[in-house]
Formats: sequence, C-alpha cells, structure tokens
Amino acid sequence: MKKIHKISLFAMVGCLSAALAFPLSACGGEREDRGKLGNVDPSDVLVAYFSCTGNTEKIAGFLADVTGGTRYEITPEQPYSTQDLDYGNSDSRTSKEQNDDSARPKIRGSVENMENYEVVYLGYPIWWGQAPKIIYTFLESYDFSGKTIIPFCTSGSSSIGSSASNLHGSANGATWLNGKRFSGSAQQSEVENWVNGLNG
Ligand SMILES: Cc1cc2nc3c(=O)[nH]c(=O)nc-3n(C[C@H](O)[C@H](O)[C@H](O)COP(=O)(O)O)c2cc1C
Repeated sequence: MKKIHKISLFAMVGCLSAALAFPLSACGGEREDRGKLGNVDPSDVLVAYFSCTGNTEKIAGFLADVTGGTRYEITPEQPYSTQDLDYGNSDSRTSKEQNDDSARPKIRGSVENMENYEVVYLGYPIWWGQAPKIIYTFLESYDFSGKTIIPFCTSGSSSIGSSASNLHGSANGATWLNGKRFSGSAQQSEVENWVNGLNG
C-alpha cells in the first residue's frame, strides 16, 4: 500500500492548493457536464468497461441498469494475475505497461455493431493516476467519429485527474464529456444522479 499512501498524500496536497487557487472548483476538476447529453435512446448507449477486481464492473452494471445501455467488458487477451497487479513491484506487468507509452495490451473479442452506438460510457480503474493502457487499445480499435464518450473510473483515492484528457488523442473525432470518479463502495443512486445530471 506504500504507493497508494504516496498517491493519497499527493491528492491531499493537490486538493489543498486547488482549493486555495480555485475556491469554488471541485477537487480533482470533476466538473459535471449538466444537461450536455440530452435524452438518449437506450439502444444508442454502450457501457464499455475494464475491471480487474470488480469495482469498475459494479459501477458499469449500475450504469447499464440506469441508462438501459448495452454492457461490454473489455477483456484482456492475457488476463491480469495478482502478481501482474502488484503496484509495489516495479517489475510487475502493470508497472511496466504503465511506464511504456507504446504499450497496447491486446483485447479478446470486439464490440458487435459499434457503428450503432452514439454514446459510449467508458470505465476503468485508475492505475498510477492514469487509465490502464488497454483503454488506449480499445479506443484505437474503432472509429469514434461523431460519438460522445463519457469516461468514468474507480480508484482507491485518486481523482479522475488527467486520466481522461490523456485519452482524447486516441479517439479523434469523438466528443468527450467530463468524466466522474467513483469509489468502490458507490451505490446505484450516485450513478443515477450523475446520469440524470448529464441528461438534464
Ligand atoms: C496497478 C494498480 C495501480 C493503482 N493505482 C492507483 C492510483 O494511482 N490511485 C488510486 O487511488 N488507486 C490506485 N489503484 C487502486 C484501483 O484504482 C482501485 O482499486 C480500483 O477501484 C480497481 O478497479 P477494478 O476493481 O475495477 O479493477 C491501483 C490499483 C492497481 C492494481
């Protein structure tokens, strides 16, 4: 947990300075795009997510229930083992992938009829403040022109931070809305309030 403690400290210091600089802004810059989405037909909504320990999957399930959208799990061709997820080991698979700008872990399978979806909720766990590299693989596998992407993430304590904006270059032509971070213990009502706010 050493790494996470370091991250929490950074998050606290970061939030304190942000609060001093921007007293009205939410910590982590999680501005909500209220009313930006409007009413969307459930058949146009895809809820795509990657999850190794179930937290993001739970939020994705709530999102699919609330939006009526189709759930799609981004499944790695090579599953992540407990050792792979060891953030305390600089030689672990996740440590190496996240430090390698060109890493694009392969995905098993694909979204059927991606062209049918207009709105894509895209979920992932925060790994060292960023989206896992497999999310880049996902974005670079399809044409997102004309689609709206809404990121969401789960984490121990980190905000969504720059994890979402760093993905923008991998889905040119898409419209990105501000995303939201959830804790692993978030309830369906929190997800519902967020979606209702986006719909306006
Ligand atoms: C490799 C790795 C790196 C992580 N880095 C962070 C981090 O930077 N900040 C944080 O708050 N949590 C971090 N976590 C915790 C996860 O973001 C958190 O447990 C998340 O909810 C896991 O989602 P999942 O269950 O969908 O896989 C990390 C976890 C792993 C395995």
